[in-house]
Amino acid sequence: MKVTVVGAGNVGATCADVLAQREIANEIVLLDIKEGVAEGKALDIWQTAPINLYDSRTVGSTNDYSKTADSDVVVITSGLPRKPGMSRDDLIATNAGIVKTVTENVVKYSPNAIIIVVSNPLDVMTYCAYLNAKIDSKRVFGMAGVLDTARYRAFLATELNVSPKDIQAVLMGGHGDTMVPLPRYTTVAGIPVTELISEEKLNEIIERTKFGGGEIVKLLGTSAWYAPGAAAAQMVEAIVRDQKRIFPVCAWLDGEYGMKEIFLGVPVVLGKNGIEKIIELDLNDAEKALLEESAVAVKSVMAVLDTMNATNA
Ligand code: NAI
Ligand code: 2OP
Repeated sequence: MKVTVVGAGNVGATCADVLAQREIANEIVLLDIKEGVAEGKALDIWQTAPINLYDSRTVGSTNDYSKTADSDVVVITSGLPRKPGMSRDDLIATNAGIVKTVTENVVKYSPNAIIIVVSNPLDVMTYCAYLNAKIDSKRVFGMAGVLDTARYRAFLATELNVSPKDIQAVLMGGHGDTMVPLPRYTTVAGIPVTELISEEKLNEIIERTKFGGGEIVKLLGTSAWYAPGAAAAQMVEAIVRDQKRIFPVCAWLDGEYGMKEIFLGVPVVLGKNGIEKIIELDLNDAEKALLEESAVAVKSVMAVLDTMNATNA
């Protein structure tokens, strides 16, 4: 299996490292636009192989997409973080330009690849990749829910003093403060979480999760990379090993949850064909209302991209 990671920054390099360490793919290509960065990081990762005893080979490329040819999966992490003085629309314009060019190159050399988008703003960058890839929506989707759910599970594990392995949960909606937590679908080794924690504490954890990305930006001055890189690698693993894992994924909805023409976080089955099924949970009225609120927020950001595309057409 061959996997390409575009963007050899914090998230991309971490993702490539996890893919290599866990032998998720035997060939990993790391590509970046900055001269030498991808080659340097790929070489450094490859030099951990004799220490950590694995065979996966990581190679780097400065913007030469021929090296990515015939990839099975491509992870797109290229893009700028928001800088002081930059509006949300400026960020969308800049990153959409990057994601568009990257996607066109990816598809040119790997027409059968499954594409996982990580670049922010996530829901709209996934939409941007979909518009430019011109492939089935089951093969273009975004990573956010795996990360957001991991944060929620980690906070719960700390609070309950139990292993994070035993916490099962799903969060839906957009990647941002309108994400939709689902305590009804959160269990600890099969026990409903509501039997183990007070409502007040659970609400605190949910609020912390919603702003989990911002909490790390405040501490580090840049956004997170260990958990995002590992989350993207876990999605790659589900695909290349055809695991049929159920993850919350930013997916194109075509009538599911009563919504159309929107990328939104929903639980899906991930396997060798990409999104093999979108799981429709039987949400109660309150959960539905939260999902709809999140959809309105995501749609408004997608509309910014549509307007930019119409203006540039
Ligand atoms: P970073 O700045 O460390 O890395 C970005 C890399 O993209 C840089 O090395 C840059 O040279 C490269 N790049 C820029 N334009 C390119 C192009 N046209 N072709 C190839 N490479 C190009 O940023 P970091 O921390 O790795 O984050 C990457 C993106 O992921 C950001 O947009 C960030 O907001 C997003 N992110 C999304 C998360 C999610 O849950 N979906 C979580 C964490 C980060
Ligand atoms: C995160 O959630 C900023 O999307 C990034 O860490």
